[in-house]
Amino acid sequence: MATESEISDGDQLDRELAELLEVERFEPPPEFRERALLKDPAVYEQASRDPLGWWTRQAEDLHWFSRWDTVLDDSDPPFYKWFVGGTLNVSYNCLDRHVEEGRGERVAFHWRGEDGQERDITYADLLAEVQRFANALKDLGVRKGDVVGIYLPMIPEVVVSMLACARIGAPHNVVFGGFSAEAVRERMEFSQAKLLITVDGAARKGTTAPVKDRVDEVMGGLPSLEKIVVVRSKGTACEMQQGRDVFYDEIVAAADPHCPAEALDAEHPLYILYTSGSTAKPKGILHTTGGYLTGVSATHRYVFDLKPETDVYWCAADVGWVTGHSYIVYGPLSNGATSVMWEGAPDYPHKGIWWEIIERYRVSILYCAPTAIRACIKWGSQWPRKHDLSSLRLLGSVGEPINPKAWLWYHKVIGGERCPIVDTWWQTETGAIMITPLPGITATKPGSATFPFPGVFAEVLDESTGEPLPEGQGLLVLTRPWPSMLRTLYKEEDRFIETYFSRFGRETYLVGDAARRDKDGYFWVIGRIDDVVNVSGHRLSTAEVESAIVAHVDVAEAAVIGQHDEDTGQAIVAFVTLQGTLEGDESTIEGIRGTVADRIGKFARPKRIIWADDLPKTRSGKIMRRLLRDIAEGRALGDVTTLRDPAVMGELEQRVSELQAQED
Ligand code: PRX
Repeated sequence: MATESEISDGDQLDRELAELLEVERFEPPPEFRERALLKDPAVYEQASRDPLGWWTRQAEDLHWFSRWDTVLDDSDPPFYKWFVGGTLNVSYNCLDRHVEEGRGERVAFHWRGEDGQERDITYADLLAEVQRFANALKDLGVRKGDVVGIYLPMIPEVVVSMLACARIGAPHNVVFGGFSAEAVRERMEFSQAKLLITVDGAARKGTTAPVKDRVDEVMGGLPSLEKIVVVRSKGTACEMQQGRDVFYDEIVAAADPHCPAEALDAEHPLYILYTSGSTAKPKGILHTTGGYLTGVSATHRYVFDLKPETDVYWCAADVGWVTGHSYIVYGPLSNGATSVMWEGAPDYPHKGIWWEIIERYRVSILYCAPTAIRACIKWGSQWPRKHDLSSLRLLGSVGEPINPKAWLWYHKVIGGERCPIVDTWWQTETGAIMITPLPGITATKPGSATFPFPGVFAEVLDESTGEPLPEGQGLLVLTRPWPSMLRTLYKEEDRFIETYFSRFGRETYLVGDAARRDKDGYFWVIGRIDDVVNVSGHRLSTAEVESAIVAHVDVAEAAVIGQHDEDTGQAIVAFVTLQGTLEGDESTIEGIRGTVADRIGKFARPKRIIWADDLPKTRSGKIMRRLLRDIAEGRALGDVTTLRDPAVMGELEQRVSELQAQED
């Protein structure tokens, strides 16, 4: 129960937040601006006058084995090429360069295990381990161009694995640890991975989840997959298949310690990362080497105003998502940053663990998702208030729109009103941050990602005419190529063009988000326009969840929608028709949720399941999800005249209101 002082503190805080709601813009604090890397707004104008010159300067901050001849080859849109003819190596840029320039003893990661164990890993340590593991991969037959799967939790070996692949030119395909083994198998199959790196077991709030055993249950029979490397992290017993499975520590110990970084073409594939689209089949986003590293390195430096000698940076995402790829691994390491890496959840062993970590390592830059902030608001300001957060100087947000209340709480309770907030909009496809404040320049408005990063060109287009709207709501597009853009969908070129470059032509990238520009030109990203939902910053396709639900034996048909949710941004709601005369009960619900957990992962389980005798369909049999969304949000129903059987809607409305009454 809350004590009296906490209650009064809460009331007082509410009053203060209400006052802040009146503030329209937050200027960068003068002390921050004075010391910022970028403080002159002329940077925007310079970059927009000469974008290629701007990106050239960013690329020049990296190490290249040989310089490019052409900055941008735009002769065959949308297949753009950047820094054509240049060669470089991402792991060289992230490691060797720092060690050679005397930064080897700098901590790359303060790693903290869920059980409180701590490991400081320097740049020199990482370089040594990456070289050995790169050689071990070669010894196992991995060659330049071979795809390597990585299914690991937040342990240092995940970073070593990614960099070892980058070192030898083997594109990695990382799968978020929260995905099920079944989802991993599918992604390995689509990418024809030759080798998979996984773990014996993973920490899950005080218990250990077996990982290798689950992988074994599904991984047999994949012809391309020749080897499985197992990191011994928790000492969980697991079966090893002779000839296929090897332990990470054993092969690393046996490997040659010297592995020079390979000079790779700027357009050599760095990684594939599967993300959700409009259909059940995930899309393999392909990123390449030179442009990607240029994009993540420049944005990491300038958006976070990084001073690598003094800052301690923490991106509290998982490496399995693009945020982790770009802003835990490649951006920070290329800039020689010292980061924190936390193995566990935000509420274990207690709800103040994040703030304890910030105090412990004197974190100065924190980057996380609005969902986490909303959870902290719910848990109460007493948790952060127990800790000294005075080391923080900059806060970031990513993954979903941040509601003004969460923004202001973050600003006040975590940032002590002295830290600028960078609300960064971007996607797996864009590789790097696209719309964001520059913290020493931009006056922020809570809830707006503000303006495109220098050298990035965004517009909001009128949905019907396709004309740019200086003010008003429409479809967000990027109108010029940028270095870290996806190059294609792996093995699905037609889908690449169709998804992103068909609606407004081959030179205009369709983002898939609706957005609004206000009278001052600020961008406000509203949400997806396709059948993609965003649950706690996790991107999911409704079709993917539907196909998992119908895999349950009792289910005849399912339609999934995203419903607005106070805590998670959106929540998954499933309308389900059962086979024949079956009646759904609690155990059917649990069965369906279990099937989704097995097929995709626990994070994709529907929050609500609504039984439906029938679903609203057009005469041609297409499910009208728009109407289901109207019902779930309690809105007046849109046009129902095209329905085959309009009576279906009345029944569903009744079910939804019954369910809501039960929940209240
Ligand atoms: O809808 C936008 C939302 O997340 C989508 C991209 O998801 P994903 O590829 O998983 O990448 C997430 C991390 C970059 C976008 O299409 N989104 C991301 N950042 C923001 C956002 N929506 C509003 N504001 C943001 N800052």
